Amino acid sequence: MNEIKVISKFTIYENSNELNSFDKKLLLKAFEAKKNAYAPYSKFSVGVSLILENGRVILGNNQENAAYPSGICAERVAIWNAASQYPEIKIQKIFICASSQTRTVDKPIPPCGACRQSIAEYETKQAENIEIFFTGETGKIIKANSIGDLLPFSFNNSLL
Ligand code: THU
Repeated sequence: MNEIKVISKFTIYENSNELNSFDKKLLLKAFEAKKNAYAPYSKFSVGVSLILENGRVILGNNQENAAYPSGICAERVAIWNAASQYPEIKIQKIFICASSQTRTVDKPIPPCGACRQSIAEYETKQAENIEIFFTGETGKIIKANSIGDLLPFSFNNSLL
């Protein structure tokens, strides 16, 4: 019998003023994207921006449905938007923010499990890490240098 320890590393920023100006602009784009979220059921809006290595910024937001499971998260809207338009261009960074119509979201909102799995697919495909920044509408911003920090032991194509 053996035990192993898995260590994840995150950078915590007190607020967006601690980000460099490039990252701060990208986070603002995520907030812009959040405005077009369609979240009449959860009243929880998520916005995402991502930057590709060709400099393109791609946006996404959550899109809900009266048949609840047919809705989709902002992260997957954004990465599939990127993958469908620029399949061979690497994703460098993803910015995620969230707010609610019923309360102030003052804690960083991390991507859900399905979105982590989807991000992991593209990190594996491009063989280069994707930085992931996530926040609420106010407060701290957390950065992971790779999806591996958010999803250790992920299932991937090497296991098929
Ligand atoms: N949501 C996202 O867009 N991303 C996540 O990572 C977590 C949840 C959305 C899905 C749904 O529209 C709403 O937030 C509440 O779960």
